[in-house]
Amino acid sequence: MNRRNFFQISTITATYLLVGCDSKSKNEVTEETSQSSMSEENQSNPKQTNQKEYLPFSQKLQFPEVINFNDTQQAELTAQKNEIFIYPEKKTEMFTFSGELPNPTIRIQKGDKFHLIFKNNLAKPTIIHWHGLIVPEDMDGHPKDVISNQETYEYSYDLNQSAGTFWYHTHPHGRTGKQIYHGLAGMYIVEDEQEKALNLPSNEFELPLMIQDKRFDKEKQLIYKEIQQDNNGVIGDVVLVNATPFPYHKVSSRKYRLRIANASSVRTYNLSFEGLKSFTLIGTDGGLLEEPIELESVLLSVAERVDLIVDFQDKEIGDTVTLKTIGIEGAVNIGLNPNYPALDASMDIMQFKVTQKSKNTLQIPQKLLPMKRLKEDDAIKTRKITMQAGEGGTWTLDNKKFDTSRIDQKVKLNTTEIWEIKNTIHMIHPFHVHGVKFQVLSRDGDTAIPTDKGWKDTVLVRPNETVKIIMQFTMPGLFLYHCHILEHSDNAMMAQFLVEK
Ligand code: C2O
Ligand code: CU
Ligand code: CU
Repeated sequence: MNRRNFFQISTITATYLLVGCDSKSKNEVTEETSQSSMSEENQSNPKQTNQKEYLPFSQKLQFPEVINFNDTQQAELTAQKNEIFIYPEKKTEMFTFSGELPNPTIRIQKGDKFHLIFKNNLAKPTIIHWHGLIVPEDMDGHPKDVISNQETYEYSYDLNQSAGTFWYHTHPHGRTGKQIYHGLAGMYIVEDEQEKALNLPSNEFELPLMIQDKRFDKEKQLIYKEIQQDNNGVIGDVVLVNATPFPYHKVSSRKYRLRIANASSVRTYNLSFEGLKSFTLIGTDGGLLEEPIELESVLLSVAERVDLIVDFQDKEIGDTVTLKTIGIEGAVNIGLNPNYPALDASMDIMQFKVTQKSKNTLQIPQKLLPMKRLKEDDAIKTRKITMQAGEGGTWTLDNKKFDTSRIDQKVKLNTTEIWEIKNTIHMIHPFHVHGVKFQVLSRDGDTAIPTDKGWKDTVLVRPNETVKIIMQFTMPGLFLYHCHILEHSDNAMMAQFLVEK
């Protein structure tokens, strides 16, 4: 498919009606229903009862429950349909792992045993994948391992991976987009001694933030794929953080650690903080960087994670700092639903309200953790993978649609390879590989991006760009690689590789 075809699709469907964020009185319940014992809670907006529009930053940021494998031997998650208060005035039908949203965050120490029973109470088959974790094939949540309604799947593996911010989500073929969009995703945090020794902000100063954009109808129900263009990826006009639209969070004037995961369908965010000159990137998908990098903005495509330090030290009580996407300059939006903010649009995400002065002056170390660089000379092979638009609105890798019965690449255990990912399409595609972590060697055509410096499992590949990655295969078995735009991998931009002993 070329640009012209995309353009035709977009004009044909341009008459589609906007059904996103409608206006409804809600704010009289917003603050009353928030479960807080803090007394300043009622002072924040005296005019709110007459608000007709949805007021951003009127609902509190929620934090997931934690499943900590320090305290528990075995956990349970059940995929199920539930009615959840996303907005305070009306429940929304969602999918959850435990009856509530946000879904629990998993915390585990390097070297510990992960043991979890997964039950499927959804009508359709599904399976959980632990994104970024290097686990045996039958623990990885490959779509071939889906379980049907009422069935269970037992996960049990030793977690032997360095500290980092990962996530989990369901992975049935053809329905991953719909299931994640309806809620089936959560954070997965690995801790280790090396990272602990760095004394980074922790407990209430370490915030897991899962970002997703969605669309709601007048009844506050989710709208998923509806028109052909949505096949290119579902974009929304409401940004949820930990399952709350445009939330706020009260902070004190000190450093915070934000672990941000993009669990959206297609949107790449260009994250920035209005009210702060800069922030510090300390980690990427696979863990901490060698040294902190100071930035004004950072790109985060679907499934990528960034670990940030933000410092509110110079802020006074009453000041606010807004996390937003400032949009991607020059982003091509052809083929995306024109009724919602495009990828170059600036959008608010959440707001930090400074409500307390702090004397804490914690310093972030100049050196974080050493990172072993994989050497090009050690690579025994270079493979080329091409991202292509297929016929009839499909998406492909190397012009082939995903097929569980086909093995697309065979690699040897413990060897190192270079993969060159070439994007021939005018859209950004996040390229993800299961069962390994990799490093980015180079990008042709465009400048490097800061997250290229760290361990990755998902890399953003810009239009007409070729990204070279290097990786060593340490886990035998059959794994996936795919575009992580959910509607692309569902249809059918995904392939398999076998790591042979
Ligand atoms: Cu987020 Cu195939 O994974
Ligand atoms: Cu994955
Ligand atoms: Cu894609």
